[in-house]
Amino acid sequence: MSADIIDGRSFAAALRAKVAAGVARLQAEHGITPGLAVVLVGEDPASQVYVRNKGIQTREAGMASFEHKLPAETSEADLLALIERLNADPAVHGILVQLPLPAHMDADAVINTIDPAKDVDGFHISNAGLLATGQKAMVPCTPLGCLMLLRDRLGDLAGRNAVVVGRSNIVGKPMAQLLLGDSCTVTIAHSRTKDLAGLCRGADILAAAVGRPRMIRGDWIRPGATVIDVGINRIEEGGKTRLVGDVDFEGAAQVAGAITPVPGGVGPMTIACLLANTLTACCRANG
Ligand code: GUN
Repeated sequence: MSADIIDGRSFAAALRAKVAAGVARLQAEHGITPGLAVVLVGEDPASQVYVRNKGIQTREAGMASFEHKLPAETSEADLLALIERLNADPAVHGILVQLPLPAHMDADAVINTIDPAKDVDGFHISNAGLLATGQKAMVPCTPLGCLMLLRDRLGDLAGRNAVVVGRSNIVGKPMAQLLLGDSCTVTIAHSRTKDLAGLCRGADILAAAVGRPRMIRGDWIRPGATVIDVGINRIEEGGKTRLVGDVDFEGAAQVAGAITPVPGGVGPMTIACLLANTLTACCRANG
C-alpha cells in the first residue's frame, strides 16, 4: 500500500472539540445554549443509529438535544405542524429531519418547511440556491466534511480536476458546488455516464458517493490522486457483516496518493459538521 490514510476520525474529534469550545464561550459570555432538534419518522434501523449518535455528540458538545421520534404512520400534516413549532421555538437553532422519510411523505415539501436559517442539513431549496450562486449558505454536512479533509490534505484546490461520482442532492450535487467554489474543474458522473473508468482516471480528486460497494476499482485511480469515499455499505463477507465504501480500498490504496478509509474517513465528519452548522446557526440567530 502506498497511499496515505486520511484520518477523518481524528479530524472530526478536533472539529468537535473546537465546536465545544465555541459553545462554552457562547454560554459564558452570552448565556446562550445552542439547541438541535432531530426528527425521526419510523423505525429504519440505520436511521435510528444515526439519530442516537447525533443526540450523544450534540450533548457532548454542550448543546441541547431535542429528539422527536414519530411513528411511521404519522401524517405529513402532523410532521409539518411539528416543524412549524420548531421553527418558532427560540431554544431550537437547528432542525434536522432524518432521511429517508416514509414513502407517503413528500420529502421536498417537508425539507422546504424548515426555516432556512435553522436548516443545518443545508437541504432547503434556499440554501441549495445560495450555495449554487456562491453566497453564504448552510452547507450540507457530508460534502462540507469532505471539503475540509481535502483542503487539509491538499491546501489550495484551484485548477485540480475533480470527479464526483453520484448526483444526489445530499452529497453529489453540493460536493460539486463546493469544489467549483474552490476553483476545481468539476465533472459529475452518474449511472448513465459513459466510460466512467476513463473519466475517473483523469481525476486529481475523486469523490465517490454512489452507494454501491467497491464499485470504483483500483485501476480507475490516477496515480497520486486523492480519493474521498463517501460510501457506507453493509455487506456479508466470510460469514460476517462488514462496512465497505464505494471504492475498492485495497486496490485504490496501491495507487492513490491519499484515501479515506471506511469506516473512519468521511463518516465521522458528517456529525462534526452538523454540530458546527448548529453553532453557526445559533451565532447568526443571536447576531
Ligand atoms: N440520511 C442520510 N444522510 C443524511 C443527512 O446527512 N441528513 C439527513 N437529514 N438525513 C440523512
